[in-house]
Amino acid sequence: MPSIHIITGATSGLGLAVARLLSNKTGDLIIAGARRPENATDLRLAVKADKIEVLALDTSSLASVRAFVSQVVERIGNERIASVICAAGLQPLGPRRITPDGFDEVFSTNVLGHIALVDGLRDHLAPKAAIITIGSGTHDPANKLAARAGFLGADFTDARAAATGQSSRQDRDERGKALDRYATSKLCAIYHATAAATEHSFADARIYCFDPGLMPGTSLAREQSAVVQFVWKRVMPVLRYFVEGVSSPEKSARVIVDDLILKKGQFPSGCHVEFTGRIAPASQQASDLEAAKRFLKDTRALLVPSA
Ligand SMILES: NC(=O)c1ccc[n+]([C@@H]2O[C@H](COP(=O)([O-])OP(=O)(O)OC[C@H]3O[C@@H](n4cnc5c(N)ncnc54)[C@H](OP(=O)(O)O)[C@@H]3O)[C@@H](O)[C@H]2O)c1
Repeated sequence: MPSIHIITGATSGLGLAVARLLSNKTGDLIIAGARRPENATDLRLAVKADKIEVLALDTSSLASVRAFVSQVVERIGNERIASVICAAGLQPLGPRRITPDGFDEVFSTNVLGHIALVDGLRDHLAPKAAIITIGSGTHDPANKLAARAGFLGADFTDARAAATGQSSRQDRDERGKALDRYATSKLCAIYHATAAATEHSFADARIYCFDPGLMPGTSLAREQSAVVQFVWKRVMPVLRYFVEGVSSPEKSARVIVDDLILKKGQFPSGCHVEFTGRIAPASQQASDLEAAKRFLKDTRALLVPSA
């Protein structure tokens, strides 16, 4: 019987590659959340028209996430969700931007919206449903490829500081702080998966954080200069043949679809898996399960509107 998969960030890059491959392999229904459903042209070309539904979703807005959850729940009725792939993400390099909800835009988009989404869909998951958050080696100060791009690893002190994009590295310039906010959001994506996997209410699900490797060519560099975007899109994709740690959306999507969604016994819930199909390297901070649980508890508290 066909299943239902929920994907964010399916209009380009990794999310688009996952939607295409998952649809080709299973013929299942994909419900995608997109900021501008009317512009989801590549997605509609990648998936057969009767197998894709695109609903409005801005993961940086809690009201939009709640509206999306309501629409999904109404749409699926008694059917159950086989997977939730949280691929929406952004990596701006300018000054911190605060959303109308009062949170850092990067944290909201990459993490907070996905925590609200996954929690909102919890009671509608099929047994063994796969929930996948997207991490990155940038969280890890020991990651050499990320260091070459100026990353120092996550700058995480607590959930509130991460959610509001506060920096503890006072000597960092604006660009450095932007890189830090992105890296911090990726540590929090790992925390989200590893902590939720320990919870009774997700005991029937399989929750993973997936590190897709460096995937040049996606739209992640959209706020960079025209020259950087040209190199990112046209030159750097060949690096995957020579440089360790470099992947492509298609290669990374294969691991998500084959190893995490379709092969249900491959990895225990809570694993942090990378694009090679192996357990991903993680910083010491990322491996701290108590910190992860504290993060998730404190972040959920931020989701409750204050009276
Ligand atoms: N590329 C890399 O090297 C790399 C490495 C490690 C991790 N990652 C992670 O992989 C994931 C996918 O990135 P990508 O490289 O595939 O980038 P991408 O091509 O820019 O795709 C990002 C997707 O997120 C969506 N999105 C952005 N902000 C959103 C919001 N507020 N609400 C809803 N959707 C939103 C975009 O939709 P629109 O069409 O509306 O813009 C797009 O579909 C991200 O989590 C990224 O951090 C990427």
